[in-house]
Amino acid sequence: MAQLEPSIYLIGFMGSGKSTVAAVLGLLLQRPVVDLDMLIVTRSRRSIATLFRDQGEAHFRQLETEALRSLSAATACIVATGGGIVGSAENWRLMRENGVIVYLQARWETLQPRLQRSDERPLANPEQGWDAAYLLLQQRLPLYAQADFTVVTDGLTPTQVAEQIVQQLQPDKGRSWNR
Ligand code: S3P
Repeated sequence: MAQLEPSIYLIGFMGSGKSTVAAVLGLLLQRPVVDLDMLIVTRSRRSIATLFRDQGEAHFRQLETEALRSLSAATACIVATGGGIVGSAENWRLMRENGVIVYLQARWETLQPRLQRSDERPLANPEQGWDAAYLLLQQRLPLYAQADFTVVTDGLTPTQVAEQIVQQLQPDKGRSWNR
């Protein structure tokens, strides 16, 4: 069944604030919010770190695509994706088919201190140093740039970012809910 309103998918590197902004956006737009990583953790009853360690990244990516697909038929919602969602053509197809894709852009100088405060991300673990995570960001930049639109988030609060998204989505901004 066709949806009346598309979902809003927030993409961006780890630490770009997708989950926090999704929560604020959900309140502003009165829409359900789904955090894809949390959905995977709830369904598999394993932490992301445990999934990576015991079953490997490829398995995690399968679960990620399955979780995304399972949302496609659901009510339009705000989806906070994981930073690696952009690595699969099927993920792009699912997101484009069902909604608007918004890139939360942030500079490495903004991201890195946030990543430093968390040890829950297998691909940005403070103990491994930062070269690999920095390189991953550089590799993904051209992918994130394929979003429908970008919000530059450096220096903004989550509420300011959410408000910018709402503004951008207004038809008089030259954008429509349906591409
Ligand atoms: C990942 C980002 C994480 C999580 C997993 C892999 C990535 O989500 O999905 O650790 O490949 O960038 P966040 O972007 O919410 O940290």
